[in-house]
Amino acid sequence: MNEWNKTFFKKHKFDALTYDDVTFKTSFSQVLPHQTDISTRLSRNIRLKIPIVSADMDTVTEYRTAIRMAMEGGIGFLWKCPDISLQVDWVDRTKHAMNAKIEKPITINQNQNLGDVNKLIEKYGFTFSSLVVVNDSDNVVGLLTKDKTQFADNLESKVSDFMLKDPKTFQGELDLKGAYDFMKTNQIPKLILVDRSNKLTGMYTWKDVREIVEGITPMYNRDSKGRLIVGANVGVDDMDRVARLLDRECDVLLVGVAHGCHEHVPDTVRRILKEFPKDRYNYDIVAGNVCDSDEAKILCEAGADAIKVGVGPGSICTTRIQTGAGIPQITAIYKSHLGVLAAGKGDIPLIADGGIKYSGDLPKAFIAGASSVMIGSLLAGTEESPGERFTYQGQEYVRYRGMGSEGAMLDSKGSKERYGGRGDAKTSDKTVPEGMEAAVPFVGTLSKPISNLVGGLRQGMGYIGAKTIREMQDRTNFYRVTPAGQKESHPHDVMITKDAINYRR
Ligand code: XMP
Repeated sequence: MNEWNKTFFKKHKFDALTYDDVTFKTSFSQVLPHQTDISTRLSRNIRLKIPIVSADMDTVTEYRTAIRMAMEGGIGFLWKCPDISLQVDWVDRTKHAMNAKIEKPITINQNQNLGDVNKLIEKYGFTFSSLVVVNDSDNVVGLLTKDKTQFADNLESKVSDFMLKDPKTFQGELDLKGAYDFMKTNQIPKLILVDRSNKLTGMYTWKDVREIVEGITPMYNRDSKGRLIVGANVGVDDMDRVARLLDRECDVLLVGVAHGCHEHVPDTVRRILKEFPKDRYNYDIVAGNVCDSDEAKILCEAGADAIKVGVGPGSICTTRIQTGAGIPQITAIYKSHLGVLAAGKGDIPLIADGGIKYSGDLPKAFIAGASSVMIGSLLAGTEESPGERFTYQGQEYVRYRGMGSEGAMLDSKGSKERYGGRGDAKTSDKTVPEGMEAAVPFVGTLSKPISNLVGGLRQGMGYIGAKTIREMQDRTNFYRVTPAGQKESHPHDVMITKDAINYRR
């Protein structure tokens, strides 16, 4: 961060500033928006292609949002659903959406029927259309593809009557490039790998292998096995959940509650690291939420790989109103950045969570010290979000609610715990709501708000001549905006005749 910005924050030591309170100057630039590199670090070991993550909320992120977010270059954080199996299932669905090598392909026995096949495919969310067929000794005997089964009119028909018998297999190991060459030469869309006794050891799918090898989908955020990456909120002291999520190779655990510096949070981070050592398990931990340097320092010292910042900035939050606690976001990010420096545990990234209203807030978050932003409301009104869709006065809306709202806390144990309750959703233990139940306009697929946010960010970087997110901190200076300046920033003294795709009245 340059000297100007350090002095700016020193001068505003006792002010709590948020996005609308600041603006930044334009600078000499040799950078056009399309030349910017907006990749960033989510956490100590995980990189993102765009600096945007979706919020772990029950009206924002289940598996559909998680899949699309990873495809767009970000990542989705699955909300802490009380039913652990369901949350684990969302991880599976995200991981099964595409693969380099499928380590444990789903199989069906040749004596089962097409009704069983449908049930199996439904269970995994229709994310694949071919199944390896095995006999009672688990030997590979066929491949069942949609090409054939679509002609069946009886669900009682046996799998063996519709499968491709003795499909081409490869005995032994093949890396990604080897699989690509083998499949291309033999023109097979599925490559089944077997051991010497013809037992299944893995499978490659041409579509996925080709995408990776030919670089067709450069924005997808993939793990080392070519699968989409995903995060999940695990709350505090829930080791059973942690174990099951790590067993399914969830990439990032989020120890996330409203008050991230309650002793349970650093304790949980330490406990996870001890019980699931990083030399045996492959994951990063994000901890939060905090809003000042002392808190960020404590979480860094506990071993967090990223810190989530934000107490009360969210669109549906009433924490500051109901409890008086919290610091507006620009100051909270900067102070947390100081906490990371003070911890001396390396450059641990900050995720600025909540309060993003426009794309112009993204550069401001990064100049203040964040590496990525977490978003709820702007991603909730999409096809992928789990929120209920409804029509009101001719306009389509999607329900969006705070995890500390009365509705969310009554519905879900995890949500109540997050806001300090005992977690027994059936009894009231006087946990006061800290969030609202609301709705946001339906905007179509998630790609739309993402492309608006990314476009605005890139244009902001062009104005200051920054090629990378990090460069922004050095190349521009923050200024404090007065109420008159804020008014000037928005459309004024005209009658707006049409909402813009990225600006509504
Ligand atoms: P946005 O502004 O993107 O904010 O809608 C999403 C973030 O808001 C936080 N959150 C809450 N905060 N009460 C709060 O004080 C709540 O009920 C609540 N629910 C979510 C959360 O950090 C989320 O990512």
